[in-house]
Amino acid sequence: MKKDFLTLKDYSKEEIKYLLDLSGKIKKDKNSYSKVLEGKNIAMLFDKHSTRTRLSFEAGINQLGGNSIYLDSKNLQISRGETYQDTAKVLSKYIDGLVIRTYSQEIVNIFAKYGTIPVINGLTDIYHPCQILADMLTLKEMELLNKDLKFTYVGDSNNVTNSLIIGFSKLGIDITIGCPQKYSPPEEIIKYARNQKEGSKLNLVYDPVKAVSDADVVYTDVWLSMGDEKNKQKLTDLKSFQVNYKLLKYSKEEVKVMHCLPAHRGQEITSEVLDGKNSIVLQQAENRLHAQKALLVYLYAD
Ligand code: CP
Ligand code: NVA
Repeated sequence: MKKDFLTLKDYSKEEIKYLLDLSGKIKKDKNSYSKVLEGKNIAMLFDKHSTRTRLSFEAGINQLGGNSIYLDSKNLQISRGETYQDTAKVLSKYIDGLVIRTYSQEIVNIFAKYGTIPVINGLTDIYHPCQILADMLTLKEMELLNKDLKFTYVGDSNNVTNSLIIGFSKLGIDITIGCPQKYSPPEEIIKYARNQKEGSKLNLVYDPVKAVSDADVVYTDVWLSMGDEKNKQKLTDLKSFQVNYKLLKYSKEEVKVMHCLPAHRGQEITSEVLDGKNSIVLQQAENRLHAQKALLVYLYAD
């Protein structure tokens, strides 16, 4: 049976750990698994902008011996009303897999349901699971991915936040979300995390200083995600949650700063911090490639 990657909810703790171990091995040897996708075509359907996701998938598919085909839905019959169901069924006759970045998670689910090929979520309004695999790999490399980790995400609760919460709760690692109360993660995600058998804590803290206090890692993301650009009120409401050195004074001295990128310098994070000694954002960005190659190997190797 085909396997998809739609949300980290569908992956067990063991599977996530396996993917992280495999990512590490693949990172050490760029030429490993170079025939896994031989003769296979993977389409990339993007409804939103992308630099890292698109390029790391295209390079990764190529390094694994496959071919990637970039699709823009504006040029597909979808934009003239052909249904996602029909498109999914037809694509499945030509290609061997689909990476999709779009707005509604429901669209990704339809492709997975009606297609007969693996579907990978390259970001939706509510999830960004590929990003979190790379983030976890980054933390693992720094020997931080363990139960003692004090990890804080500050800013807008968005797709990255939701997937971080899901991923951390699967691994049994506590996570703190620092945001104004009205920008808390969805109730469904909170419930999901708190019901995981590993029993880790999800702390919601509405004060930025308290949220980052004593943190080993502080993670942030843009305040206005793609599709949410009109919500300008957030720019005012989130001001005190900006990651700057004044705020980081309350974290551990060696705090690591993460951001999935792209960043809006001067909004959710200052340039000084993003380019500073605590920042590990480039390692995170690089790890997109290795983590996604591991995912592809997992989905396609016999
Ligand atoms: N982090 C991330 O997904 O980057 P892109 O939007 O450039 O793909
Ligand atoms: N939350 C951001 C992530 C971009 C990689 C967005 O959805 O725009």
